Amino acid sequence: MLSTTDERVDEIFNEETTEKNNKMKSFLIIGLFVILLKPDINALDNGLALTPPMGWLTWERFRCNTDCERDPENCISERLIKEMADIMASEGYRDVGYEYVIIDDCWLAQQRDQDGRLLPDPNRFPSGIKNLAEYVHRKGLKFGIYEDSGKKTCGGFPGSEFYMQTDAKTFADWGVDYLKFDGCYSNLNDFQAGYEAMEFFLNRTRKKIVYSCEWPFYKIVGGLSVDFAAVRNTCNLWRNYFDIQDSWSSVIDIINFWGNNSELFSQYAGPGGWNDPDMIILGNFGLSYDEERTHLAMWAMMAAPLIMSNDLRHIRSQSKALLQNRNIISINQDKLGIQAILLRKVNGIQIWSRNLSHNRTALAFVNENSDGMPRYLKVTLDDIKLPPTRSYNFTEAFEMKINFIIAKGHYLEMYVNPHGVQLFIAKRM
Ligand code: GLA
Repeated sequence: MLSTTDERVDEIFNEETTEKNNKMKSFLIIGLFVILLKPDINALDNGLALTPPMGWLTWERFRCNTDCERDPENCISERLIKEMADIMASEGYRDVGYEYVIIDDCWLAQQRDQDGRLLPDPNRFPSGIKNLAEYVHRKGLKFGIYEDSGKKTCGGFPGSEFYMQTDAKTFADWGVDYLKFDGCYSNLNDFQAGYEAMEFFLNRTRKKIVYSCEWPFYKIVGGLSVDFAAVRNTCNLWRNYFDIQDSWSSVIDIINFWGNNSELFSQYAGPGGWNDPDMIILGNFGLSYDEERTHLAMWAMMAAPLIMSNDLRHIRSQSKALLQNRNIISINQDKLGIQAILLRKVNGIQIWSRNLSHNRTALAFVNENSDGMPRYLKVTLDDIKLPPTRSYNFTEAFEMKINFIIAKGHYLEMYVNPHGVQLFIAKRM
């Protein structure tokens, strides 16, 4: 007879490492075991991500570039991570809240070591991940990494299926502070068990590791329903939709998807757990200045993780200033953690509202039209769901310089640039 849950876990997972030939059986045991033990498993309880995590991630800008011979400056390597960490610390990003430096896919060697542990690519990460994490920590930043719940990562490197206990321990030993856990090469029906198993083993390491999941996204695109309560119980942030691309069509597509689901998604966002519309891509090739403002403003409204993917070594000063705009960041990081709702669309202008602390409401007006002319919009307090019996002090939210009062019977009037945004904070008087 086994006396404790932990002993049973150890036994099953020791068996797992010694019985590599019987992998499918082991995975079924994991799944079944997690389900049987569900009442004993604490929900994700790491005390992290009380506001949306902020940081930098390789994927959108640097993809799976492993060609360090031809492109040493841009390939996925310890050099790239160190250079970004240096800039985050020296050029103000860390000081406004960007904290995590995260390697996405394509850091791994093709094989595990003889004990089944993950190894980084030896040519691109010659100092090893522990040393790299220490380097990032010395800069006053935190370090994140990527793995996958399936047999392989999306880029085809070894996945964590059958190795979750070992991998969680490896990450903790290396000093990893954030794990992005992807869902390629995984059976759709195994997602919940797989992600919960990794959460279980992360908890057991006792190291505090932000847990970023893609489980809802794969289920949604696979046509299956998602148990968002279980997702929130398991993950600190979770992707619900397709990968962002370097274009306005991708950004507005994500905003629209969030708009269509804002009542549902917003129920699950709050301190400790966030819907993740994917990285912020300001400073890259595909967005105009107005589009960058809209992208950032809407990620702030959606209480989204602010994880940049861009080249901080070569970035336009306008994009850098937007990324470091403390007024926008403070909307994103508002301690209540309430996610914006799409109120309505008027002539192709989306009206979004997010309640903030201290009796304030953030209001975003996004012009989807591409006709080239700023659009005029006039709304009443009723139109923007502010109780019209009161007066409000409105402040333009990017600069916080323009102030005006709107009382019952007054209108809020504005022009919104094509693909642009007007953003206000209304404070009840
Ligand atoms: C998936 C994820 C991306 C990225 C790639 C890496 O597409 O959604 O964010 O992690 O895999 O291969």
